[in-house]
Amino acid sequence: MKNSRIFITGATGFVGASLVRHFAAMDWEVLANGRAAAPVPLLSLAKYVQADIQNPFPPQSADVLIHAAALASDAAGWDALKKANLEGTRHVFEATRDCPCFVYISSSSVYDGQKALHREDEIVDRSKLSPYGLSKRMAEDWLLEQDWQGRSLFILRPRAVYGVGDRVLLPRLLRLVRQGQIFSPGDMRISSSLTHVDNLCAAIDLCVGQACFSTKLPESLKQKSVQIFNVADDEVYEMRELVCRLLSEIHGRKLPFRAMPLLPLRYLASALEALRVAKQFTPYSLSTVSKDCVLDIEGITKTLEYRPRQNFCNTLPEIVRWVNRVGIERVKKAEPDLPWQT
Ligand SMILES: NC(=O)c1ccc[n+]([C@@H]2O[C@H](COP(=O)([O-])OP(=O)(O)OC[C@H]3O[C@@H](n4cnc5c(N)ncnc54)[C@H](OP(=O)(O)O)[C@@H]3O)[C@@H](O)[C@H]2O)c1
Repeated sequence: MKNSRIFITGATGFVGASLVRHFAAMDWEVLANGRAAAPVPLLSLAKYVQADIQNPFPPQSADVLIHAAALASDAAGWDALKKANLEGTRHVFEATRDCPCFVYISSSSVYDGQKALHREDEIVDRSKLSPYGLSKRMAEDWLLEQDWQGRSLFILRPRAVYGVGDRVLLPRLLRLVRQGQIFSPGDMRISSSLTHVDNLCAAIDLCVGQACFSTKLPESLKQKSVQIFNVADDEVYEMRELVCRLLSEIHGRKLPFRAMPLLPLRYLASALEALRVAKQFTPYSLSTVSKDCVLDIEGITKTLEYRPRQNFCNTLPEIVRWVNRVGIERVKKAEPDLPWQT
């Protein structure tokens, strides 16, 4: 997209790095934000704006802003989450006030887990959200309170983003393998949506296309400057089947599956949380592998004609090749440079 400029936050992370590659390949002029030093491969694709979004930073001029930076952690404390995810969003908004299209990457964690199938307009009990989910929800709420007259705001809620460069979901799954077996909290016979990162990029393309380039929009949509969409693959996955297949392919042999009983694990997680020593192992992290969570994607499908092309089966070979090339131990540790190790 010659002469069009896009500003992408979180460019050192998994989703942000994928977005930088995606938009650079489409000929956009890319401004990429991160707080660490620029990853070397990024510099051939984008101009780098090094800034910690927890602090105000200078105005950025762009046609489109994609805000993907976040502290994406169940283990982080509330103050850190609020600073990065709520105040950070405010600072990004302030720095891009003149940008006509704002895409906020939110999360399915803004749903409270009471239902198995989530729609964008469902009523959510905020007291039931994890601290991470609450910080993302509060950032959404704050954005929704702003004046979007003459500008577009898209709030996208993906669920468990996966693909090459993933340093959130894949490390968690790889850590389930001990002594050649998969030790799972519960039997993982749950239904879940997942979002391949390419499908998320495709969804963003559609939002950007609607906001910036569509000339034949119906009047009803032209008025709609704020839209919220779930984003996921077409398929709903049975997590046990998927996890066994993924881990067995990565390890090059069929790994036995051992289900640990959930009830004692729940007590343990609650006790650790009460003692404030819980890190990755929290009641919320347990619920993500023991409760159904499916996103209804009818909204984006009907409104933007979203047709996700990638799924777990057709992308598994490239994910397995990538993990083996980078090294299982490095992926398990979620090393910071993984997103740019492609
Ligand atoms: N991955 C998923 O399964 C998933 C699912 C749903 C929604 N999401 C959302 O998708 C977005 C991207 O997630 P991801 O998977 O790409 O996570 P990630 O790999 O952890 O990347 C997060 C990015 O945000 C940056 N960041 C965090 N705090 C910052 C700060 N104070 N100033 C500047 N940059 C900061 C990180 O930089 P540093 O490297 O310096 O920390 C990193 O570049 C997030 O908004 C997340 O909430 C992710």
